[in-house]
Amino acid sequence: MRDVAVIGIGCTTFGEKWETSFRDLFLEAGALALEDAQLSGERIDALYVGNMSAGRFVEQEHVGALIADYAGMASRHIPSTRVESACCSGSLAFRQAVIAVASGLEEIVVAAGVEKMTDVETSISVDALAAAADREWEGFVGATFPGLYAMIATDYMHRYPLTREQLAMVAVKNHYNGARNPIAQFHSEITVDTVLRSPLVADPLRLFDCSPITDGAAAVILAPLERAREFTDAPIKVLATAQASDTIALHDRRDISTLDATVVAARRAYEMAGLTPAAIDLVEVHDCFTIAEICAIEDLGFCAKGEAGRLTEEGETALNGRIPVNTSGGLKACGHPVGATGIKQVAEIVQQLRGDAGRRQVDGAEIGMTQNVGGTGASVAVHIFGRA
Ligand code: COA
Repeated sequence: MRDVAVIGIGCTTFGEKWETSFRDLFLEAGALALEDAQLSGERIDALYVGNMSAGRFVEQEHVGALIADYAGMASRHIPSTRVESACCSGSLAFRQAVIAVASGLEEIVVAAGVEKMTDVETSISVDALAAAADREWEGFVGATFPGLYAMIATDYMHRYPLTREQLAMVAVKNHYNGARNPIAQFHSEITVDTVLRSPLVADPLRLFDCSPITDGAAAVILAPLERAREFTDAPIKVLATAQASDTIALHDRRDISTLDATVVAARRAYEMAGLTPAAIDLVEVHDCFTIAEICAIEDLGFCAKGEAGRLTEEGETALNGRIPVNTSGGLKACGHPVGATGIKQVAEIVQQLRGDAGRRQVDGAEIGMTQNVGGTGASVAVHIFGRA
């Protein structure tokens, strides 16, 4: 297998983008990534596009072909593949692209993600998202994602020492970081009080514990590491790509406060990279709800079970902390266009390792990680990156 590097990144701004169509979102992110890698589209050999539910959100299927066509690549007949794994779609598109380049099958490959969620009412997007849970055992009886993660939060708070205030501090930190990220959906800094006074969505989770509904796209370009310097002075090496799955329904899990798929994917990633959690300088985790960030910090091995609330309160996960978590603002403040999120996480880590993250730069960042979750943890991808 060949070593693989990221040579270009591009993200649209995230938010409600009424003026931009689904396909235009992808084109904007793709053009930014090509510009960043100083490449023309003619050099691209293959496309992998993460997308969860264009059929439900914009009534468009056959997304791989659509994207290749509107990117002007139809006449070159390059392979273009949609990858779907709910909110983990972006990371799995990235993983497929890594495998394609590592195997020697392809040379220069785009991994992208796109979702346009705000063209339908909230009730429809919440139901489309709920299709990533078990439709017969969860969705059918009215369990939405806020509801399922509320069950995780309730179980966790019953068994471990996490206070309601500590949970709110996850959102406060991520809004602080999002306020320093030009692409973020929310640029407002908030306080614990903002979270605690916001409307209850699914007890104990309030509005500011939830990621929002978002339009956006992100793209990254991969090349064999040995060729990366043809395109960039700062290639970022993919040190590990790992994926794991679990039961789709929450009630079938061994323990709902631990995402076993995260634990296993992380173990595989650390083994592949030959690293331990202590080597990681920063991490983007899947904070679709504040409780998800608490679980992720522990399941990735940054502290023991039950300690992530204290870690957050003591500032260890803040920008200048021991292990900065979600410097982009995370899903909470940067936004969560589900199919694009995994690719945006990669783009954030690349920016940080290049030293290009401006007001949210982590000093001396050399090794970064991403963790992206589908559903309540039925699919998880973990990637590790290092400065080449
Ligand atoms: N955090 C902070 N503010 C939010 C927000 C969020 N998550 N979601 C919406 N808002 C704000 C809006 O900006 C708006 O503010 P304004 O009145 O100042 O303009 C206000 O709240 C109402 O927005 P609206 O779009 O009407 O919210 P909503 O009630 O339709 O949706 C949720 C709120 C929480 C139900 C929705 O964001 C949601 O379902 N989130 C979870 C998404 C999800 O499950 N993703 C998959 C995870 S696995």
